[in-house]
Amino acid sequence: MYWKKDICKVLMTEEQIADMVKGIGQQITQDYSGKELLVVGILKGASVFMMDLIKYIDLPLSIDFMVVSSYGNMSATSGEIKILRDVTAKMEGRHVLLVEDIIDSGLTMNKLKDVLKLRNPASLKVASAFDKPSGRRVPMECDYVGAEVPNEFVVGYGLDYAEKYRNVPELCVLKSEIYE
Ligand code: IMP
Ligand code: MG
Repeated sequence: MYWKKDICKVLMTEEQIADMVKGIGQQITQDYSGKELLVVGILKGASVFMMDLIKYIDLPLSIDFMVVSSYGNMSATSGEIKILRDVTAKMEGRHVLLVEDIIDSGLTMNKLKDVLKLRNPASLKVASAFDKPSGRRVPMECDYVGAEVPNEFVVGYGLDYAEKYRNVPELCVLKSEIYE
């Protein structure tokens, strides 16, 4: 496997990730029982997680995608997020579930939620495959979290470094010499 030489630790195996995704899907199925969902993935990172997750949600749903500019390196008080690609679906009156790969500083999701609330969805929740609570710079509570990860740079299962490693099936810590 091309990527084995670039990683120092496996945090979650393919099997562990699959169990975690199944669990979230079942929880969502229970929580939204009798309702219809609009599942919105934040590209590109959430794509792998989202395609697995929707298979475990036993409810009628539509999918859509957004591309949002990241302000991850800026201060909490600066800038508004920019929506580079918006959903084509109307959100008004619908149960919207945002799907993210990982919440770190919380800046992206915090601001995105504020913007999308103005569209008057019936409800707005967030499901993230991974969560790095130690990275928070603004409060951001995730409604569904697959697993908490330590404050290290992780790749795999959709998460990239310089657009690479998204296809790695395990969640891994990248060797620091790769990005130093
Ligand atoms: P934040 O919560 O606004 O800081 O932004 C989260 C975004 O930063 C995620 O959607 C990822 O694209 C990226 N990100 C944060 N931590 C990592 C990581 O450890 N590996 C890869 N991408 C990350
Ligand atoms: Mg990314």
